[in-house]
Amino acid sequence: MGKDVIIACDFESREKLMGFLDNFREEKPFLKIGMELFYAMGPEVVRELKARGHKIFLDLKLHDIPTTVKKAMAVLSGLDIDMVNVHAAGTKAMMEAALEGLTRADGSRPLLIAVTQLTSTSEERMQQELLIQASLPDTVKQYAKNACDAGLDGVVCSPLEAGMVHEVCGEAFATVTPGIRFADSSKDDQVRITTPARAKEIGSNYIVVGRPITQAEDPVAAYRRCMAEFVD
Ligand code: C5P
Repeated sequence: MGKDVIIACDFESREKLMGFLDNFREEKPFLKIGMELFYAMGPEVVRELKARGHKIFLDLKLHDIPTTVKKAMAVLSGLDIDMVNVHAAGTKAMMEAALEGLTRADGSRPLLIAVTQLTSTSEERMQQELLIQASLPDTVKQYAKNACDAGLDGVVCSPLEAGMVHEVCGEAFATVTPGIRFADSSKDDQVRITTPARAKEIGSNYIVVGRPITQAEDPVAAYRRCMAEFVD
């Protein structure tokens, strides 16, 4: 499993996105496109970024009945994306259907990753509102195991959970981890954070970094700092 830095492109317009990307003259960073940009601009934004040479993680977190997810994934795989995700809460049957839909006629497919518990969900809310009585780490482990059993390539989780996920699902199972901050930068609204260097030590495979790069005075320097700490 490779190691890479994925930039979370949380911009509200094409102009802002392209203005940001124009800073990068030498590198072609791996980019995460989320619901905001995809719902605003549609598949065209993905085609445009692929044409510019970027790898794309399409973060749409699908969660529906298996047939619907399978058909939606078949459409997305035609976009030539590199990574896409579903909610593990949709069950193994849904994850298996997603995998089937995603697989192209030649057998190739993008990486398929499952969201375990969102980091915005506290253990208290999970237990009281969702009536899941297990602990949060135990549900993350169980959802990761389900994703692994369904044949998925990895999970999105907190960098602090990456080691635990690898213990349960093996080293070849990818951990994709947001919640990354430099030791000397603002936490913004993130709570359970760690640095790129520490994420590497814990065993994360892909770090997803947004504001520390997108809001930096020098985004290219910030990206290079992430690469130097995490990959090199
Ligand atoms: O700006 P920042 O580095 O906090 O961006 C992190 C990105 O990862 C955002 O796009 C955010 O929506 C996403 N994310 C997250 N925590 C999760 C899942 C996704 O921060 N559990």
